[in-house]
Amino acid sequence: MNVLAIVGSPRKGKATDTLVDKAIEGIWTKRPASKVKKLHLVERDINYCRNCLTCRDSQTDAPVARCIIRDDMDDINNDILDADALIFGTPVHMGYATAVMMTFLERICWTFAKPEKQVLTIKGCPGPRSDKARKAIIIVTSGIVPPHLRIFCDWATGQIRGVVKDSLNAKVVGDLYAGDIERRGVEHYFEKAGKLGQRLV
Ligand SMILES: Cc1cc2nc3c(=O)[nH]c(=O)nc-3n(C[C@H](O)[C@H](O)[C@H](O)COP(=O)(O)O)c2cc1C
Repeated sequence: MNVLAIVGSPRKGKATDTLVDKAIEGIWTKRPASKVKKLHLVERDINYCRNCLTCRDSQTDAPVARCIIRDDMDDINNDILDADALIFGTPVHMGYATAVMMTFLERICWTFAKPEKQVLTIKGCPGPRSDKARKAIIIVTSGIVPPHLRIFCDWATGQIRGVVKDSLNAKVVGDLYAGDIERRGVEHYFEKAGKLGQRLV
């Protein structure tokens, strides 16, 4: 199984990255043969979506439409296509996923989806271009707000969940909100992150 871990923290080796590593350890505990690639979005050249809608309006039958921008998303798109399972990790910044993660999500929104789905009365909602069924887990860290108050702080999980389902054809099999990291310490969530990783494979 190919797993792609996508880290949206601006900091390597800190809370989000550490919990993503724990999830990866969980994967290897359960399925040692799994291939895992970790991607630090902050290290990659990922430009802002320009809303030209070339990808959205593409008639291609390929699982990913071509973006007009030439940057590291070309390689990353191939990594996504190869992946059977995905890990998304992001800190909460002002209640949402980081700008680093959002920039990435905007770039995959329409390249991996075509506007064919109808939701209630709205036609033209994104539906995945790819038939390949994938699984995903989401890890969100926050500095101050504890888990029981997550509802006031975590819009990141819902954002990622939506894009993952509508664009990447991935089913979210679990998520972890690791809140109040500043007081509790990241170690508080190691076991949960490991179990979450096991659930992915
Ligand atoms: C710009 C900014 C906004 C933040 N907003 C929140 C917030 O709304 N709620 C919260 O609990 N923590 C907030 N934090 C703290 C981070 O969520 C916390 O430090 C996180 O665990 C960092 O993850 P990292 O160690 O992977 O960078 C914010 C941090 C930054 C830099």
